[in-house]
Amino acid sequence: MFNALVLNQDGKATVAAVSQIDASQLPAGEVLVAVDRSSLNYKDGLAVTGKGKIIRNFPMVPGIDFAGTVLESADPRFQVGQAVILTGWGVGERHWGGMAEQARVKADWLVSMPHNCTADKAMAIGTAGLTAMLCVQALIDGGVKPEDGEVLISGASGGVGSVAVTLLAQLGYNVVALTGRSDSNGAWLQSLGATSVMERSELEGEGRPLEKGRWAGMIDTVGDQILANALAQMNYNGVVAACGLAGGFALPTTVMPFILRNVRLQGVDSVMCPVPVRERAWEQLLQLLPASFFEQATTTISLEQVPEYAEAITNGQVTGRVIIKL
Ligand SMILES: NC(=O)c1ccc[n+]([C@@H]2O[C@H](COP(=O)([O-])OP(=O)(O)OC[C@H]3O[C@@H](n4cnc5c(N)ncnc54)[C@H](OP(=O)(O)O)[C@@H]3O)[C@@H](O)[C@H]2O)c1
Repeated sequence: MFNALVLNQDGKATVAAVSQIDASQLPAGEVLVAVDRSSLNYKDGLAVTGKGKIIRNFPMVPGIDFAGTVLESADPRFQVGQAVILTGWGVGERHWGGMAEQARVKADWLVSMPHNCTADKAMAIGTAGLTAMLCVQALIDGGVKPEDGEVLISGASGGVGSVAVTLLAQLGYNVVALTGRSDSNGAWLQSLGATSVMERSELEGEGRPLEKGRWAGMIDTVGDQILANALAQMNYNGVVAACGLAGGFALPTTVMPFILRNVRLQGVDSVMCPVPVRERAWEQLLQLLPASFFEQATTTISLEQVPEYAEAITNGQVTGRVIIKL
C-alpha cells in the first residue's frame, strides 16, 4: 500500500483526499515508477479544485508531472533503478498521475533523467519550466535576438513566467516582467534577471488595434485582453509565444498587428510535444538555469498540502514553482 492524492466527485464538487492505494489499482502501462517528486502546475490547480473541467473520469490521481525511479519495466528502453521524468501526455488528467508514491505509465511517455539532474531539480522545473523553455525556443526560432529590444513576459511571478524570466535573462535578453504583484514580487523578479517590472494594470482594459511598437518578443501565459494589448504593441517582425490562459481563454484582437507589422503569434504546447524536442529542452534548461533559481524560486510541500496550494494557484497567489515531495 502507498499514499496517493485521490480525486472523487461528490455531486458537482471535486473532493481531494490522501488515501492508501496499492499497485494493482494503478492503470496499465509498461513501466512502474517510484515517484520521488511531483509538482503543482496551474492545470493541477484546476483539476484538484474542480474549477476547470480537466478530469472526466473519477476516481483520479492528479499530477501532470513527476520524477522518480523505475521499479518494474516491460520495455527495454527503461531498466529497474533508472531515474526518469514524465510531463504531459494527459497523465494526471486521463491517466493516473504523479501525486502518488507510485505511478504506472507508458514507456513512450518517459524521458530518461539527464545526468546532471535530480528528481528535486526536475520538478523545480516541471511542466511549467519545460513550457517556458519551449516558449523561449519559439522566440529564438522566430528570429528574436537580444539586440532587437525588450521582451515582455506576462504572469511573470508564476511557474512558467518565472522560469521564462530567468532563461531569457541568462541568454542576454532585456526582460520586462509583467505582474499583478509588483509590490510584493518586483524585487524578486529583478533578482531572477528581469531588467524592469511592469504593473499588470498597464495592459488591462480595452486597447487600440495598434499602439506604438515596444516589444521585440513576448511570452504570454495569461491570454485575453493582456495578450491582445501586447500584440498591438509589438515591433515590426515581433514574435509572441502564447502558452497560457491564467487570465482567460479569449483573444479579443484584430488582424492589424499581423498584416501591418508582420507579427507572428506562435502557440506552444508541452503536453504532446515529441520526445526529441523534450530531451533537447531538458538539456538546455539544465545548462541555463543557475543554482540561484532553484534556491529562490521554489517551495516544497507535502501531498496533504496540495488542496490548499491548488486553491492558491488558481487564485494567482503562488509565486514561482511548487515541488511536491512524496
Ligand atoms: N501550453 C502548455 O503546454 C502549458 C504548459 C504549462 C502551463 N500552461 C498554462 O500557462 C499558464 C501559467 O501556468 P503556471 O503553471 O505558470 O501558473 P501560475 O504559476 O499560476 O502562473 C500564472 C500567473 O499568471 C498571473 N495571473 C494570475 N491570474 C491572472 C489574471 N486573472 N490575469 C492576469 N494574470 C494573472 C499571475 O502572475 P502575476 O501575479 O505575476 O501577474 C500568476 O502567478 C496557465 O494558464 C497554464 O495552464 C500551458
